[in-house]
Amino acid sequence: MQLSPLQSRLAASLLASCLLLVLYFTLFSPHFAVALDLGEPSPVVYDDIDFSPNLAARSGLDPSYEPEFVAFDRSILGRAPAGVTALTNNEATSMNVLPGTTQVFVFTASSPPPQEVSGAPVEPRDGHNSSGARRSPTGGLDGRDVFSEGEESQPLTKRQTSRTVFISANTCEQPQVVDPSKTKADPPQLTLYVSTTTSNQSPGPLADDADQIQVKFKEGAVMYNLTVSGEVYLGLHAPNMSSEFDGGYNFRVAASTDVYFFTFNETADADLIWVDSDSQGALLITHNLTESRDPELEQKIMSTQPYVMFAQNKDDRSVNGLKYSYCGLQNRAQIAATKGGQLTSMVTTGMTKRGPGNLPKQQFFFTGLNASANYMGILAVEGNSSVSGNGQAGGGGHVFRATSFSTKSDHGNCRIVLNLEFCDQVAYSVPSNPNFGNSTQLAKFYDDYAADMYQNFNRSLQQVPCEAPSTQRYSLARNCTDCAVAYKDWLCSVTIPRCEDFDNPADYLQPRAMAQTFPNGDPLDDAIRKQVPLADTWAFNSSRNARIDEILKPGPYKEVLPCDDLCYNIVQSCPAKLQFSCPLPGGVGFAHSYGRRTPSGDGAGITCNYPGSAHVFSAAPRAGVSFLLAAGLAVALGPLLLL
Ligand SMILES: *[C@@H]1O[C@H](CO)[C@@H](O)[C@H](O)[C@H]1NC(C)=O
Ligand SMILES: *[C@@H]1O[C@H](CO)[C@@H](O)[C@H](O)[C@H]1NC(C)=O
Ligand SMILES: *[C@@H]1O[C@H](CO)[C@@H](O)[C@H](O)[C@H]1NC(C)=O
Ligand SMILES: *[C@@H]1O[C@H](CO)[C@@H](O)[C@H](O)[C@H]1NC(C)=O
Repeated sequence: MQLSPLQSRLAASLLASCLLLVLYFTLFSPHFAVALDLGEPSPVVYDDIDFSPNLAARSGLDPSYEPEFVAFDRSILGRAPAGVTALTNNEATSMNVLPGTTQVFVFTASSPPPQEVSGAPVEPRDGHNSSGARRSPTGGLDGRDVFSEGEESQPLTKRQTSRTVFISANTCEQPQVVDPSKTKADPPQLTLYVSTTTSNQSPGPLADDADQIQVKFKEGAVMYNLTVSGEVYLGLHAPNMSSEFDGGYNFRVAASTDVYFFTFNETADADLIWVDSDSQGALLITHNLTESRDPELEQKIMSTQPYVMFAQNKDDRSVNGLKYSYCGLQNRAQIAATKGGQLTSMVTTGMTKRGPGNLPKQQFFFTGLNASANYMGILAVEGNSSVSGNGQAGGGGHVFRATSFSTKSDHGNCRIVLNLEFCDQVAYSVPSNPNFGNSTQLAKFYDDYAADMYQNFNRSLQQVPCEAPSTQRYSLARNCTDCAVAYKDWLCSVTIPRCEDFDNPADYLQPRAMAQTFPNGDPLDDAIRKQVPLADTWAFNSSRNARIDEILKPGPYKEVLPCDDLCYNIVQSCPAKLQFSCPLPGGVGFAHSYGRRTPSGDGAGITCNYPGSAHVFSAAPRAGVSFLLAAGLAVALGPLLLL
């Protein structure tokens, strides 16, 4: 569009006027508008410049006073006073603190870009009020300039460049117990003190509680947010402690106007699921990393390994007091998936789609654990999973709630197998014998057998008109693919029994191979044998599948029976011509062949085995379908009771 000379002149003068206006408002911030809103003269805040009497007096006398202007970042304008460390947005600062001392930090909330708060300001946590947080009638924690509330302060709140500041810290090192045999106590936690008033620039135990808030660390971590318009002063205080402990603390602290730099979550469901363990190892998986079926996204996720994991023998207290601290876990956890960026030999991790839904998840396989020991597993993310480190919002890492797991006894006759080629959903402990070979060979032993059995079934299925037009098919609801899937799920569960310790007293477990000796040659104790009803029957003295007894000779173990619905699903999904049938509950063979799903709580045992079954599984159990089991595995065309 062409402008006439008159129009261009108009445009130019309009532009000049606008520039003038901008200049005016920048140089002479409209104090008059604020003044109108204020009845009280005391803590008057004009944008970012606090002209409270306090500050006015200090500006002449106190050498630590520094002018602060909205347009300039503090880092340009000046340095923090001696002994006070200035924090930069989203940068962690590492520091030592000795018992009985405090390290002080300052963070300027109005770092660029200043922004008006919208909506209600963030309130301090209730819990902290009880632990010492109080509002001073005139000081920085006054409702007006920090936690603005109530009608009269509304217009002022809008005018201020208030921001939410997220303060977070992790304890990386803590004092050590001098003599673990003499004390059961853990070292005390650090305390964070926060002040927003210039009259308390050194928050800590010596300052007036009216001018500060104190938040105790929890398991080596703290998260606290507040809305402020000026500076935030932080004190990180290490308590005095008895001579039971030796050494000081090292911590990392960060302030951010975006999100917490270090985070933990102690209330969410544990994100780590314990699948199974054997006498020296354990398998754990994460939840589904996506619910999306978009192949590109799945592909992308499968190429990452977003989580790290730490494990700790519960008898080892080295990590007590640091369980929510990423760096604390890195320094002190007994077993870490990575140490100093290197994968450790005790942990293998990778992605898998195994389990219900076949969605991507990360798995962790631990070896080198002690038998019959209790562990906790802690899942963590370095950074926020896509970025980590200084300068990145949320770059300090996230720690999830711990998951408990335990290892099996040292009979050594249950062993985890995973990554099977045919039975790709199998990843659990199976009857084994340490003399048989390594777990790769053991997996192949079971998998090859299942694959062979499946060939027989496949030949039978081929004689059924699967590809026929729908009027001639055996069912409109199910097709041969459904039948094949149902059969494979069932077959893998019955040919590859899920193994538990013989010592496990749970009543849903089926004792097996009681007539054999344990791998070390010990027979089953006669007294124990006598306690088992029906101990002399076939179901108790042999395994489900004769090859296990002939080749592996695992010795006495207990089986987690396959879920009855696996059998039922075959009967429903496969052509009647194949004549599958399942034993009825209470009928021949049912009790020793199939288990039933029960709702599982936190850490509950697995009452029956199904593809992808694991401990601590929140998926809703299936409603009461019934039955069954399989002894005869060869599939022929003829009635087949799946025992
Ligand atoms: C700030 O802290 C409060 C109280 O703990 C919490 O409810 C709120 O979710 C926090 N705000 C953010 C944005 O995290
Ligand atoms: C993954 O998603 C599937 C399908 O939504 C669900 O059935 C399954 O329980 C989920 N698995 C985990 C470990 O959360
Ligand atoms: C195994 O037990 C020994 C002796 O109690 C202990 O020192 C060691 O830390 C334990 N190892 C693991 C991985 O739990
Ligand atoms: C298991 O044993 C086989 C044969 O001895 C060997 O080739 C394979 O590398 C072993 N696998 C592992 C994981 O040790």
